[in-house]
Amino acid sequence: MRIDVLTLFPEVFEPFLRSSIVGRAVSSGLVEIGLTNIRDFAHDRHKSVDDTPFGGGPGMVMACGPVFEAVESVSAQREGQPVRVLLTPQGRLMDQSAVRELAGHEWLILLCGHYEGFDERIRVGMDVRELSIGDYVLSGGEAAALVVMDAVVRLLPGALGHEDSAEHDSFTDGLLEYPQYTRPREFRGMAVPDILLSGDHGKIAAWRREQALERTRQRRPDLLEDREAPGGSRGEDD
Ligand code: ADE
Repeated sequence: MRIDVLTLFPEVFEPFLRSSIVGRAVSSGLVEIGLTNIRDFAHDRHKSVDDTPFGGGPGMVMACGPVFEAVESVSAQREGQPVRVLLTPQGRLMDQSAVRELAGHEWLILLCGHYEGFDERIRVGMDVRELSIGDYVLSGGEAAALVVMDAVVRLLPGALGHEDSAEHDSFTDGLLEYPQYTRPREFRGMAVPDILLSGDHGKIAAWRREQALERTRQRRPDLLEDREAPGGSRGEDD
């Protein structure tokens, strides 16, 4: 997979790309990441990428020219059609099914905005999907792009140490994850549930399923409603 990030702050991404699961996926060649500075596509001598809004109002708006040119230049650098994702609080709310969908593509372009927003013609004049990582406003799309990259890359086959560990993640089957324990068996008076020490894999699997359901019922009942709704993401037997 290839992911290109278009940003005014490419340096934000570098330490992340060297660390952890994403770093390992990069060094093993599972994913190739390109960082492009939108400012390199500015034309004036101040290298401006933003301007004041028509009609007045506070803040600055990211201008069309450098963004269009950056996206077009990166899109022309290789064969194929990238999926272009504009990070914005106005986009589709990201969830695990959106992540799975993105992880199925060969090439993503993540476009990070700054200032008060994008010139509307960036939304309407370019083939982009708008994606939000949550109902709150960040000062730029960079933190959102990091979230998207992390969530997508860990789904690539081979990215996680254990081939099946993404399968057990929270949300993968529409439920929160069951509680996990490791050594010691007892810590400050808190014991590991006996069933996990029983060696009975059938019982352990049933207990985990029940715990996942119960935890979801308590903390995120909305997820259960989604599962039960006609056309909801998945049924109990999936
Ligand atoms: N840019 C600013 N806020 C954002 C959000 N919540 N999601 C994605 N991109 C953003």
